[in-house]
Amino acid sequence: MKTICDPLEMQRAALAWRAQGKSIGFVPTMGFLHAGHTSLMDIARPKCDILVVSIFVNPLQFGPSEDLDQYPHDPDGDAVKCQEHGTDVLFMPPELYPDGHATRVRVNGLTEWLCGSDRPTHFEGVTTVVARLFGLVQPTVAVFGQKDYQQLAVVRRMTLDLALPVEIIGAPLIRDDDGVALSSRNKYLSDTQRSRARTLSAALRGVLADVAAGETHVATLLETARTRLDADTVDYIEIRDADDLSPMPSVDRAARVFGAARYGTTRLIDNMALPLPANA
Ligand code: PAJ
Repeated sequence: MKTICDPLEMQRAALAWRAQGKSIGFVPTMGFLHAGHTSLMDIARPKCDILVVSIFVNPLQFGPSEDLDQYPHDPDGDAVKCQEHGTDVLFMPPELYPDGHATRVRVNGLTEWLCGSDRPTHFEGVTTVVARLFGLVQPTVAVFGQKDYQQLAVVRRMTLDLALPVEIIGAPLIRDDDGVALSSRNKYLSDTQRSRARTLSAALRGVLADVAAGETHVATLLETARTRLDADTVDYIEIRDADDLSPMPSVDRAARVFGAARYGTTRLIDNMALPLPANA
């Protein structure tokens, strides 16, 4: 595995591989890697000749009061995991943006709900960095986790709208044994917070069970879900159309339930696909 730190060296290498007809698979991350991240590498690996993983904690996607400065790092451990999962190039730029960088990529609509309401500049930061990473890495295929389902939908929209020649693959959400979605931010949780955090996935699973039992009225489903969720703050629990994330009064087509909750200063998110009701 080769490590590249200079953005333009990354682009020169990528352009040379593409000129040789090689396909490039890409997994962008912010590091402190866990089994959720490595599952993306395992999905990308058989789909490409060269697998590139990037690690860059992108300041543009953090709000002023968020955890940019404390975001966990483990570059040595990350390198081992990347190597074990077949990565050819670990792209770890200390700085990614050129001097005078002034361009922002913004997807409207999809970014204004769910996490976009609580983090108004977040998705603009994500699409701006992903667009630049795509330009540097020249991927033929890029893998994003359904853990950040809204991010995946936003990246798909950007890729379509800007006609970027890259296939976007959505990968299943990986959970810990206790049901909590794997996240780099779980490291911040105390033991008590961690056990309370289980109620987030449990509340979403409860919605799946209620839909399977025949309840389709969204307001009722969400009211019950809130009673099952123990958190310091509930940012949202919502049921949305699985494709365009639009609101729906009743579960009558493919839908997902989304939740975001805070334990102390740690904000966790989760989502699950709902079963299709019998009459849909
Ligand atoms: P990060 O939070 O490091 O996540 C990198 C990728 O790993 C994302 O596609 C995310 O959805 C996926 N991922 C994280 N936890 C997962 C889990 N438990 N199961 C499956 N996939 C999981 O998302 C970002 O970084 C950034 O926004 C980024 C896209 C790199 C842009 O800066």
